Amino acid sequence: MRNAREAGYSTPARWLHWLTALCVFILVPVAVAMTNLGEGALTNALYEIHKSVGVIAFAIVVVRLAYRLLRGAPPSESGLTPFERVVSRWTHRALYAIVFVMPILGYAGTSMCCAPINLFWTIPIPITVTGSEEATKRILSIHQALGFALTGLVALHIAGASYHALIKRDGVLRRMLPSA
Ligand code: HEM
Ligand code: HEM
Repeated sequence: MRNAREAGYSTPARWLHWLTALCVFILVPVAVAMTNLGEGALTNALYEIHKSVGVIAFAIVVVRLAYRLLRGAPPSESGLTPFERVVSRWTHRALYAIVFVMPILGYAGTSMCCAPINLFWTIPIPITVTGSEEATKRILSIHQALGFALTGLVALHIAGASYHALIKRDGVLRRMLPSA
């Protein structure tokens, strides 16, 4: 029988991780496209997709954070250096914080200027946030800045996972892979 360390993350934790990752991999390129394409039907559709996937990402992240706080995580891989331990712990904390805060800011900023928000053109979300044009601009610019921070951290995170899988060849990536 595998012990807790070899087993890595639980199945729900792995699912929640990869669902969050999938949302981020959709959200960031869609956001960059929609803010650069100029007005038109495609841009409007991309905004709708971004807002809808962003709301879904928020729901997943809330479940994920609750699960993480209640159930914890497996002990870290035994071969990590103290430096790797500190960098990974703080990268993970920052990733959690950013993916929790970003949808709230995106929603609030959008609701203030351009409500109502619907899930994929259909289900209206009955929460309205009011505020000035100035507040909208400030909130959405923080949302954008966090988007760049998130992109950098995800790149660092993927580089770390690749380093463990390809160079150190330890079990870190396996702890999170769906099939392990
Ligand atoms: C984890 C969730 C989210 C991520 C990672 C994310 C990511 C991003 C990024 C990277 C940008 C900046 C694009 C650029 O300027 O190049 C952006 C812009 C934007 N996001 Fe999000 N977003 C998320 C959730 C949401 C939600 C839930 C909403 C609204 C319901 C939203 C509404 C917007 C809007 C309206 C903009 C454009 C702001 C502008 O025109 O300057 N986002 N998002
Ligand atoms: C190709 C993309 C990705 C790969 C290969 C990957 C890989 C991994 C691996 C191997 C772990 C476990 C680390 C350990 O054992 O300590 C992990 C944890 C984590 N990943 Fe990712 N990841 C990816 C994308 C993302 C994205 C986009 C996010 C954005 C939110 C993210 C957030 C996290 C967080 C917060 C943890 C810590 C989990 C916890 O301890 O609760 N990952 N990832």
